[in-house]
Amino acid sequence: MPARSCLTIVLAAGEGTRMRASRPKVLHAIAGRPLIAHVLAAVQATGSRIAVVVGPGADAVTAAVKSLAPEAEVFVQAERRGTAHAVLAARAALERGADDVLVAFADTPLIRPETLEGLRAPLAAGAAVSVLGFRPKNPTGYGRLVTDGDDLVAIREEKDASPAERAIGFCNAGLMGLSGDHALTLLDRIGDDNAKREFYLTDAVALARSASLRAVATAADDDSEVLGVNTQAQLAEVGAVLQQRLRAAALDGGVSMAAPETVHLAYDTTLARDVVIEPYVVFGPGVTVAEGAVIKAFSHLEGATVGPGALVGPYARLRPGAVLENDVHVGNFVEIKASTIEAGAKTNHLSYIGDARVGAKANVGAGTITCNYDGVLKHRTDIGAGAFIGSNSSLVAPVKIGDGAYVGSGSVVTKDVPPDGLAVARGRQIVKEGWAARWRKIAAAAKKKPGSPP
Ligand code: UD1
Ligand code: MG
Repeated sequence: MPARSCLTIVLAAGEGTRMRASRPKVLHAIAGRPLIAHVLAAVQATGSRIAVVVGPGADAVTAAVKSLAPEAEVFVQAERRGTAHAVLAARAALERGADDVLVAFADTPLIRPETLEGLRAPLAAGAAVSVLGFRPKNPTGYGRLVTDGDDLVAIREEKDASPAERAIGFCNAGLMGLSGDHALTLLDRIGDDNAKREFYLTDAVALARSASLRAVATAADDDSEVLGVNTQAQLAEVGAVLQQRLRAAALDGGVSMAAPETVHLAYDTTLARDVVIEPYVVFGPGVTVAEGAVIKAFSHLEGATVGPGALVGPYARLRPGAVLENDVHVGNFVEIKASTIEAGAKTNHLSYIGDARVGAKANVGAGTITCNYDGVLKHRTDIGAGAFIGSNSSLVAPVKIGDGAYVGSGSVVTKDVPPDGLAVARGRQIVKEGWAARWRKIAAAAKKKPGSPP
């Protein structure tokens, strides 16, 4: 039997006023990417065609969709008249046909690909409508699932529900599947004769029943998966649930974390086995850490690659483009940006290394700064293998320190240093014997003079 085709319509036209933020709700991030990116990734993993419905003037949302899922079609819902009205904004995609149609919400980011797939099974078995149900601790605000045995009879929105219906604990999680054969007919029949005068997608259930078609509800395996985001507090709550998932996966993969609840991971953080993450480490997107590396407390990493056996932190900052090869040491208060630190090199204290290469086994002394920016352009610093950079040196880029060369402590290096050479670029020291004793005498005499300042 050929695989059934699927169209998933992601609704993202909500105004998100309760976020009290200038940014559109679905562009708020958890674990390093926007809410809508999580939903699109889950849908992409199922291989479904994708249509996204955005609100009028939501250019930032459209741009995000175009970059995250270039294959998705974007439709604008000009007026916000309910979930069924929103789905019908994607009419052109529906008219092209699909065996299964799924509707997902862009503000419900923890949905898993398996759950989306699971909703399609009843459709394959002949149901016209398939709904994901769950039992929230507090059902207020959710549509109630009115059932008759295994069959779903209706979904009653809170505002339209009778007291008996409100007592039902089984609720609509918001994810719905429609058989492609009936989707448009059912959607077109939905009216707005209800308390909110909106076109409710949920009315598809009762309409299917009255056309002698079947509707079923499947209980979600994990209630946290259907948590929606309407407020900043819910954004934080959903973010925390996702952090728990990511930490559990890291621990399962052989990563040691003494205080996992203090470690913040990004959706794509890749940690190999035998990695140790100390407390209070924050990962932005794009970080890979290889086997046996140790990330010490209070470090912040983003867009960085950490090689096997490397030691990072405490209090280190790895910014995008930082690449640490095997056994590199990056210590406290060191910031690395767009630089490769080759195998065995060390930069242990108080340094900024930007737009640079640090050769294998080089030693970069405390307080070394690569002066990569001249106010207009960025320039590169190249430090050769085995070089030794004395503490508190400024390397003014573009500049090249040859293999095995030395830079004297406190130097401001503006010219290239040849391999195995020495550069000293600082004030020359002078020593005056007995000077301090003579000075103290002169100063004390001046202080004793009548009329001298106290
Ligand atoms: C909806 C369901 C309810 C379910 C709940 C789960 C309906 C009628 N009700 O209620 O049964 O328990 O979700 O969270 O479907 N949207 C648009 N355009 C619109 C209206 C909504 O794009 O005109 C989008 C919103 O951005 C949101 C989603 O659809 O992502 C759901 O809309 P919302 O208003 O939150 O519906 P609820 O009242 O929560
Ligand atoms: Mg809602």
